[in-house]
Amino acid sequence: MRNSNYKLIPEFVLKDEEKKDFSWQNLLGKYSVVYFYPKANTPGCTLEGIDFSRLIDEFNGNVVGISPDDCKAITSFKSKKGLKVKLLSDPEKEVARAFGATDGEKLVRSTFIIDPWGRIRKEWIKVSVKGHAEQVLNEYKKIIASDLELNENISFRRAFRAVKSDPISDEEIKTLIRAAHLAPSCANKQPWRFVIVRNEEKLKKLHEALSDGNYWMKYAPAIIVVHTKDELDCQLSDNRNYALYDTGTAVGFLVVQATQMGLIAHPIAGFEPLKVKELLNIEGTVITLIAVGRWGNFDILNDKHLQIEKSERRRVDLEEIYRFDS
Ligand SMILES: Cc1cc2nc3c(=O)[nH]c(=O)nc-3n(C[C@H](O)[C@H](O)[C@H](O)COP(=O)(O)O)c2cc1C
Repeated sequence: MRNSNYKLIPEFVLKDEEKKDFSWQNLLGKYSVVYFYPKANTPGCTLEGIDFSRLIDEFNGNVVGISPDDCKAITSFKSKKGLKVKLLSDPEKEVARAFGATDGEKLVRSTFIIDPWGRIRKEWIKVSVKGHAEQVLNEYKKIIASDLELNENISFRRAFRAVKSDPISDEEIKTLIRAAHLAPSCANKQPWRFVIVRNEEKLKKLHEALSDGNYWMKYAPAIIVVHTKDELDCQLSDNRNYALYDTGTAVGFLVVQATQMGLIAHPIAGFEPLKVKELLNIEGTVITLIAVGRWGNFDILNDKHLQIEKSERRRVDLEEIYRFDS
């Protein structure tokens, strides 16, 4: 089952104007527009077809018009009006119904922008034709441009330290863990394990395991202790053990989710693992402690950390870390 917050296109096959099969798969892997119109050759539907055809290059050729007309009708409609969009025949209005472009037995003029995963990113139900194709193109370009940008929560995320002690709810923690749990792992072994510490006394004991430089973490209302062991994941015969790798990926997902939720999630290595293991009764490897909290308490930071908190991110040159193999 595909998971999405967006409505997904239904799986369908219809005949096109050449009586050839056109399947939902033809819409995948690219950005396309599907529009439903009531009847070929009527004035509104003609204007809509002509308007989309005029802009077809800007839509990269990916505009599909669907109506209840039979194949013969859409063939003559397309050639008579010189349309450049792909036309499909949906005589039973099944596909229209599945898209939500019907009202009882009536087809409702509607338009959908579909992304490469088959997610419906924008829809117009009860379209009025004048200026509509331009409006759709505007939105189509906006969606593509924003998808091509670096993910905002990845680029905005930092290892912030100015943490406020305001509490973090169960729901917030659970959402972070769910994000981590959606990470890929070798043979789907899911080796990541998390202990969430929020109890004041336990936190105080955990603070004793922190290195001096991690003084700021004592203000965090929650610390997620991340642990795993090799036996929980793939152990390949050439000594590649994937537990640490996969658990790190999960932490990557968690910190990006936290950024979206307006939360600091700062993983650290500066702690004494034996103390943590003993305190929390953990077997295996404690890889990291993640400070979780809200941002904005600059008063707790020493000068060095205050400066880092507000500084540009530091990274080696991109050229140092990748190359295209020629
Ligand atoms: C495995 C790991 C261990 C880290 N240990 C510490 C730590 O002990 N103390 C600390 O203040 N920051 C720690 N950090 C944060 C890094 O210093 C920080 O991610 C790095 O400087 C890059 O900065 P940025 O995350 O803001 O881009 C750690 C990060 C990772 C991933």
